[in-house]
Amino acid sequence: MEGDPVDVLEYLRERYGRTVRFYHPGFGGEGYVLSRPEDVQHVLNDSHDSFAKAEIYEDELADVFGKGLVTSEGDLWRRQRRLIAPMFTRDQITEFVEVMVEETESMIERWRRRQEDGETIDLLEETERVTLQVIGRTMFGEDMEGRADRMQWSLDRLRRRFKRRTEYLVKVPDWMPTPLNSRDQRAFEALEEVVWDIIEGRCVEEAEAAVEEGDADLLDMLLAAETDDGERMTEQQVRDEVVTFLLAGHETTAASLAWTWYLLSHNPEKYRSLYHTVEDADVDDDAPAVAEELRSVRPYVQEGMRVFPPVPMFARRTLEDQQVGRYHVPEDSLVVLPQVLTHRDPDIWRQPWRYDPDRFRGAVDDRPDYSYYPFGGGPRMCIGRTLSLVESQIVLGLTTRELRLELESPTCPPHEIPVRSAVTLTPTPTIEMSVREWE
Ligand code: HEM
Repeated sequence: MEGDPVDVLEYLRERYGRTVRFYHPGFGGEGYVLSRPEDVQHVLNDSHDSFAKAEIYEDELADVFGKGLVTSEGDLWRRQRRLIAPMFTRDQITEFVEVMVEETESMIERWRRRQEDGETIDLLEETERVTLQVIGRTMFGEDMEGRADRMQWSLDRLRRRFKRRTEYLVKVPDWMPTPLNSRDQRAFEALEEVVWDIIEGRCVEEAEAAVEEGDADLLDMLLAAETDDGERMTEQQVRDEVVTFLLAGHETTAASLAWTWYLLSHNPEKYRSLYHTVEDADVDDDAPAVAEELRSVRPYVQEGMRVFPPVPMFARRTLEDQQVGRYHVPEDSLVVLPQVLTHRDPDIWRQPWRYDPDRFRGAVDDRPDYSYYPFGGGPRMCIGRTLSLVESQIVLGLTTRELRLELESPTCPPHEIPVRSAVTLTPTPTIEMSVREWE
């Protein structure tokens, strides 16, 4: 069957149910799609030691991320996760609020200029721009503005490459001088240039001083870190973490914001209720208070990620035979965990295409664990989840106080919009919005 993997997964569920066994020679043989919450919990949490990251998927990611935190395993992963975790505590994230507010304000100004000129905005391009700025400044102390266009071009190419190489049976080797290969090569080079530019702008002495003064960003922490044997992290490892956080730290939140705005524009009543929750928020206060004042925005973002999970699926490989529910899953099988199916399962979420932020408000949730897992789960759960939620609250909340977005195109209902999944889930058509006032 043709189409984006999300369409294929939906087709498989409709036809064969919530647990599907498939055979795909390109994916190394036998595989399973597990979308029942209890099965997802088994893989990510209860028996996580019996599963590794899936090579078929990770090999392609590793071309870009190397052995950064998303792709590494075992002792290296444990060490790096322990080292990086202090960057993501609640207190640390509060320190980032100021940057998030500043970057949102510049975005609003930019949108106002578009409004004055009678122009529309490309929603995803805009959300990618603001999230790239936030991640660049908070993690690496870098203004990314001058590099945003090149980064966007490079990432677009790399996403296409990922899609081609995970979906097609035949992979053209990189050494063959084809036009596609040389374009991919240029995309890799553009990204490397940005990354090395960030790293080479900082020296170890500066990093050590920042760590000592309690003023370190992620790059300082990576450069100043010593292993248990007193060794420095290799340059390659620093590069791998910088790429990982630069990309994983902005594309996902950008997709989440874009989908949420898109759904809001299809649901004017919900959009207005969001406006009412933020119009009187006191946002002139200090950082922790701003984040707290905008807490009411969170259900709107959470529901957006339910309908369109920014990471629609990910995969594992079994390290030993497993009994998952009624199924025997042999060693070395591919296991696909599709948030997109679980999040839209009508037995768990009534009227799954209805955008209803109330699902995440108030009453105790009696749904089984792992009915909702946009950030994964278990020990490999997303390290950036709180940062992302706080950032989305601020960007969406502050902007909604000032202006309203109106959808110009595409005009199809949300369940018909063509999507593209290449690690993140994005709309295929450009989402064009006009900038309006609230009446
Ligand atoms: C809406 C926003 C985001 C979504 C939906 C998302 C989703 C995910 C998911 C599903 C995983 C688990 C993958 C797996 O188990 O194979 C993950 C891991 C990860 N995410 Fe996120 N993410 C988001 C934002 C962020 C941000 C803002 C950062 C960094 C600043 C980040 C950095 C990472 C890293 C480093 C990992 C690997 C963690 C580990 O294995 O220890 N993510 N993310």
